Amino acid sequence: MCGIVGYIGNREATPILLSGLKRLEYRGYDSAGLALLEDLQAAISSNGHSTQLLSAHQLVIEKCKGKVTDLEELSARNPHLSTIGIGHTRWATHGAPSDVNAHPHTDQSGKIAIIHNGIIENYSQIKKHLISRGHIFQTETDTEVLAHLIGEFFEQSHNLTEAVRLSLNEVVGAYGIAVISSENPDEIVVARKGSPLVIGVGNDNDYFVASDAAAIIAHTRQVIYLSDNEMATITRSGIKTRTISNVEITKTIEHIEMELEAIEKGGFDHFMLKEIYEQPRTITDAMRGRVVEEEGNVVLGGLENHLRELRRVNRILITACGTSFHAGLIGKYMIEQYARIPVDIEYASEFRYRNPIVGDDDVMFAISQSGETADTLAALREGKRKGALGLGIVNVVGSTIARESDGGVYIHAGPEIGVASTKAFTSQLTVFALITIMLGRMRHLSVVDGRAMIRELLALPDKVQQTIENTEQQVKQIAEIFKDATNFLYLGRGYNYPAALEGALKLKEISYIHAEGYPAAEMKHGPIALIDENMPVVFVAPHDDVYEKILSNIQEVRARKGHVIAIATEGDEQITELAEQVIFIPETIPMLTPILSVVPLQLLAYYMATARGCNVDQPRNLAKSVTVE
Ligand code: F6R
Repeated sequence: MCGIVGYIGNREATPILLSGLKRLEYRGYDSAGLALLEDLQAAISSNGHSTQLLSAHQLVIEKCKGKVTDLEELSARNPHLSTIGIGHTRWATHGAPSDVNAHPHTDQSGKIAIIHNGIIENYSQIKKHLISRGHIFQTETDTEVLAHLIGEFFEQSHNLTEAVRLSLNEVVGAYGIAVISSENPDEIVVARKGSPLVIGVGNDNDYFVASDAAAIIAHTRQVIYLSDNEMATITRSGIKTRTISNVEITKTIEHIEMELEAIEKGGFDHFMLKEIYEQPRTITDAMRGRVVEEEGNVVLGGLENHLRELRRVNRILITACGTSFHAGLIGKYMIEQYARIPVDIEYASEFRYRNPIVGDDDVMFAISQSGETADTLAALREGKRKGALGLGIVNVVGSTIARESDGGVYIHAGPEIGVASTKAFTSQLTVFALITIMLGRMRHLSVVDGRAMIRELLALPDKVQQTIENTEQQVKQIAEIFKDATNFLYLGRGYNYPAALEGALKLKEISYIHAEGYPAAEMKHGPIALIDENMPVVFVAPHDDVYEKILSNIQEVRARKGHVIAIATEGDEQITELAEQVIFIPETIPMLTPILSVVPLQLLAYYMATARGCNVDQPRNLAKSVTVE
């Protein structure tokens, strides 16, 4: 996830671009940059009789690792006058956060600059082809490859729009881009596929570009939203829109009513809800470019150097905290079922001080959204010190755990701003499913079974979308009914026992209601004493291997007048006879059910908290990244 801004008009571009980037920075970016076309107004043409002042433009790039304020300082030290420019805040995907990897990137000639949100999946093939044609690359980014490709086409036509269009026809992946060229000082070319892009229409022959309207709302509320596979050429005298297959289209100008703060949350009341809604996309991003369906297998770039150890490993250790720990528990179940490797999992805070037994042949996964959690980092260091291969499953690119791991897998969920983790959890589970398939295929999992699992994985984003759409209103009503409860029990079995733990954690974090998660069968060993007519009990009971068993547990609660809310698989009529409230989720294989069942649990926590007037995005006493013990 990155931020894009652009400006063309009669005003000075730099302050407009910098203020736009600041509005996008709430997402927590790692580097930022600007590309400007400075009007030199000094090129002299002489034919011997007269001299003529020509307007010549120079492409100027200013970029650095760090925050927009760092870029602002850099820009103040080297001021450049320009009335056209593009700016970017980066969330690293290909290539670590650094000055050189920051956007904009330029083509081989140094005359074309591009900023890009998204991932170019086939960049390595294109790069190889361009290298064979003499191109030299400065960075590890996919974006620089696209810049060079555009430059290659530009050489042929000197038409920037056409060069961008032809390049995008070669590209597989997602993009929101803005491109300028010193040879075309009166235009910005923009395009989108899978990554948002909005054009702002100003009052004074000026136009704005942004990945999020928050960046330009201070200047105009008149906007044009590009759809996937559409592009636009923006000049000071107007906008021309077309598809990337070159069909001219007419777009309508829309008026934005929303307040700035609301737009920063993408129209959602809270970041948490926004992030719950993002999950179909973030799950897709976690899988992007990693599955080889034909081979029923998975390729994880960050583990490629450790395939030998992974093939030979006899024991896996998992360590994490909080929500990431719950993802790890499910990961243990997945790996043990399909790869048949014993997995031990332990809270990082326990592992680090317990003098755990770790051998040279062990492989350790440290799971962390932020990559900065102090206990998880210390546990990783302890495991590595004792000889384990230390791998990370991390969201924040370039974070300490990512840097200190011997290898690992980024979950690519984008910045998670809501303090209660939601999308990171489902992305962690998606990555565990990928690791499971990879480890399984090294052992006993057949190509046919691998393919079947991959098909189920690929179907998940749509199923998560359906789950959100089909359950949200019902969950809201359930929250109204139970908002004054003081205790909740969450019960599940097998893969959905950790989902129950996660549901309980979400509820306590943001609504401050005491909630306990338990393996459903453990209820009779103690918690059953708590059940009476005041106790709501959430059963996570999709159709899986332990479904029949959980029905008996539901009956035990009903017999004691507890209120049963069940998460069940669509079409399950048996459970509707037992539970007061049934929330249905689509069917999938047991291993993947937590990715669906957790969605209504996240929504339940969210709507319970809002019904109780709690501050969802800033729950008391909690911090997003726990960097202290
Ligand atoms: C719960 C939550 C926390 C984190 C925990 C670990 O909603 O966000 O429990 O999961 O602090 O954080 P990371 O994953 O950043 O190591």
